[in-house]
Amino acid sequence: MDYLRIEGGNRLNGSIDISGAKNSALPVIASTILSDRDVHIKNIPNVVDIRTLLKLITMLGGEVEQSETEVKINNRNIDSTKAVYEIVSKMRASILVLGPLLARFGECEVSLPGGCAIGQRPIDLHLKALEAMGAKIDIKGGYVRATTKDGLKGAKIIFDKITVGGTENIIMAGALAKGTTTIINSAKEPEVVQLCNILIDAGIEIDGVGTSTITIKGTAGEPIEFKDIEIIPDRIEAGTYLCAGAITNSTLTIKKVNASHIQSSIDKLEAMGCRFNILDNEITIYPTSRLKPINIITTEYPGFPTDMQAQFMAVATMAIGESLIEERLFENRFMHVGELNRLGADIWLKGNIASIKPVAELYGADVMATDLRASSALVLAGLVAKGVTNVHRIYHLDRGYDNLEGKLSSLGANIKRVSR
Ligand code: EPZ
Repeated sequence: MDYLRIEGGNRLNGSIDISGAKNSALPVIASTILSDRDVHIKNIPNVVDIRTLLKLITMLGGEVEQSETEVKINNRNIDSTKAVYEIVSKMRASILVLGPLLARFGECEVSLPGGCAIGQRPIDLHLKALEAMGAKIDIKGGYVRATTKDGLKGAKIIFDKITVGGTENIIMAGALAKGTTTIINSAKEPEVVQLCNILIDAGIEIDGVGTSTITIKGTAGEPIEFKDIEIIPDRIEAGTYLCAGAITNSTLTIKKVNASHIQSSIDKLEAMGCRFNILDNEITIYPTSRLKPINIITTEYPGFPTDMQAQFMAVATMAIGESLIEERLFENRFMHVGELNRLGADIWLKGNIASIKPVAELYGADVMATDLRASSALVLAGLVAKGVTNVHRIYHLDRGYDNLEGKLSSLGANIKRVSR
């Protein structure tokens, strides 16, 4: 299995381009099921999760042509509506095909995703909402089987909890439902906004985009025709590279980024003493020689994202005082704590709060990636640790970071992938 070998201590310098957002590309690709025409998508990140979803589309009978950062999908000839365990067990986001398959074909079967490294992650809210839209849901043999008699019907959905994937599934289902669907307590993430915008461009009437109440007027089963789509920049990848600048005390520039999407991360890094030059789609971070401690609570957008929690924990190990990080979204998203401590960090956990005490230095060691963002936190720590850090199980990183070692090397990091 491949691992990353990092020799810490190099200052970084220069600029890199941010790739398209994995978490936007996934629902956008799922939404192509709502169409029976060609759909062109640009700025697709080169990451494993995207390849997994494209494989699923092909297994359903869709045609996929991929070239570097672009993909053309045609779902005219879908002849299966079953998302099999082999795919869903690899990637939970496969659940995003549930809404569009059911809306277009009136039936589908999707393997239950089950728990994962960061928490239980149920899909009850997706299912309850589809039931409110007239779906009959049966769970048997590890599969969710959903059917509708005369197609989905618009309904008023109140989410008990804000859910990104749940909101996306119901927006897609609502696009082909009969009548109007109203989602109350919807997610406001930029990825949800992009999904709404491409549907609006395809002729669907959607109100309240980017707010907590979204209404969607459906086509009553009529497939839609998408305009060309360009995936928004990956805000978590962008935030991760800003953390790389902060932890290595470096000046670096990230390009092709949407600064407004990462305001909460910029605010926290500013509070830690970093300075920024922010242009429309380009951000330069200037370091501080003394990183101040920080308090963070993860929450839904536009608040501080859970997907940046691990990376900030790595940066906080280098601060001059004690930082506190509270994880409110996922009950088990602290697997990186033990691994950061292997590198010499002094982090204590009490319930869902981590206390990060200052240490003079981190020391290279062998560490193990446990989920996507935890893995990037270990890489960040490796960039400043004395000596060599080997990050194992990097298949987690490959799921969501496009060419991480290539981009970091181009900034001057001493990092390489070792195959054995
Ligand atoms: C999305 O996951 C992202 N994934 C995650 O990014 C991200 O961490 C998460 O949103 C929160 O921002 C994609 O966009 C593909 P949720 P999602 O439904 O949609 C609970 C990464 O590293 N919940 O908003 O699965 C759930 O357990 C990944 O790129 C229910 O209880 O997250 C969690 O506590 C990891 N019932 C909370 O809601 C449900 O039916 C938010 O989850 C659904 C969710």
